[in-house]
Amino acid sequence: MTRPLLEVRRLRKTFAPRRRGGSPVRAVTDVSFDLREGEVLGLVGESGSGKSTIGQCLVHLHRPDGGEILLDGENLATLPRGAFRRRRTAVQMIFQDPSSALNPRMSVGDALREALRLHSPHAGRDVIEERLERLLRLIGLQPEHASRYPHQLSGGQKQRIGIARAIAVEPRCLIADEAVSALDVSIQAQIITLLGDLQQSLGLTMLFISHDLGVVRYVADRVAVLYLGRLVEIGPARDIFAAPAHPYTQALLAAIPDPARPLDESAILDDPAGPDPRAAGGGCAFAPRCPHVMDLCRKDQPFLTQVAADHTCACVLRKIHPDRQGETV
Ligand SMILES: Nc1ncnc2c1ncn2[C@@H]1O[C@H](COP(=O)(O)OP(=O)(O)O)[C@@H](O)[C@H]1O
Ligand code: SF4
Ligand SMILES: [Mg+2]
Repeated sequence: MTRPLLEVRRLRKTFAPRRRGGSPVRAVTDVSFDLREGEVLGLVGESGSGKSTIGQCLVHLHRPDGGEILLDGENLATLPRGAFRRRRTAVQMIFQDPSSALNPRMSVGDALREALRLHSPHAGRDVIEERLERLLRLIGLQPEHASRYPHQLSGGQKQRIGIARAIAVEPRCLIADEAVSALDVSIQAQIITLLGDLQQSLGLTMLFISHDLGVVRYVADRVAVLYLGRLVEIGPARDIFAAPAHPYTQALLAAIPDPARPLDESAILDDPAGPDPRAAGGGCAFAPRCPHVMDLCRKDQPFLTQVAADHTCACVLRKIHPDRQGETV
């Protein structure tokens, strides 16, 4: 197998408490995954599971406390800021709120020209204008949109510009963090289709972050599932959707309405409050919510083990003979 484009190894990030007397938050604990050239890896998990922290570590918005982020063998996690700035076009991010990512006083054309010049500082004016027009058409807009300002655009159009800015610098990989979560459902579908088309036509490599497994289903080649900062399952999207191995993934999947599948109420999480970070001490952090919990689960942190080809899961159930499942060990 060829070397992955990006290798994340045992990434760790803890935040200081937000208020005095609070506890530090272990946002990301020993997360490892590869991003393979030309693939879309979906990163899913409930709010607070550490998805954005991982994405932000990849673009140097956070400095990890430990671990490696290898791009072409170079560890981005330890690069000094100056050195990273020279490589900043390699990994680009699309944000949830396109308005905050655009300068309200800059026209669409100027925002995109800025990005195009960052990529080709010595290109002449004509070349930049030609690339600008091509870029606008690529994201489904017209050349006349270049003279518009962000407040004259719809939410979907703003997100298209956010995507255009990110791809203008021809990044090696794209991080889309909840890129469609703030949009209406019909617009979400259009942006997902656009990302899929761009991925095909430009061969983009993408980390697609979303709390919604239903959205990830439409774009991802592989899916990684996070729970309280730890990776609990990773595998090919078709396997994850057909045969999710981890009880948490099963719960996320059960919550997606699907007329073709009977509702499995036993798998649905019945505590809308979400995960409890205090449970992340010893043992499996999902234990307080897991319908299959056993005494064993509270003892040691389950580690990722292979359950099928290219598919791993961190759950003791996967290490116990099926005949003994349900026993208190
Ligand atoms: N800058 C920060 N300071 C303190 N805690 C933070 C900060 N950013 C994120 N967190 C905490 O880290 C955890 C993971 O957050 P985040 O990565 O944003 O999760 P997600 O994107 O999956 O919703 C949460 O408990 C969140 O409150
Ligand atoms: S290790 Fe135990 S508590 Fe955790 S997901 Fe598996 S069965 Fe549930
Ligand atoms: Mg987030």
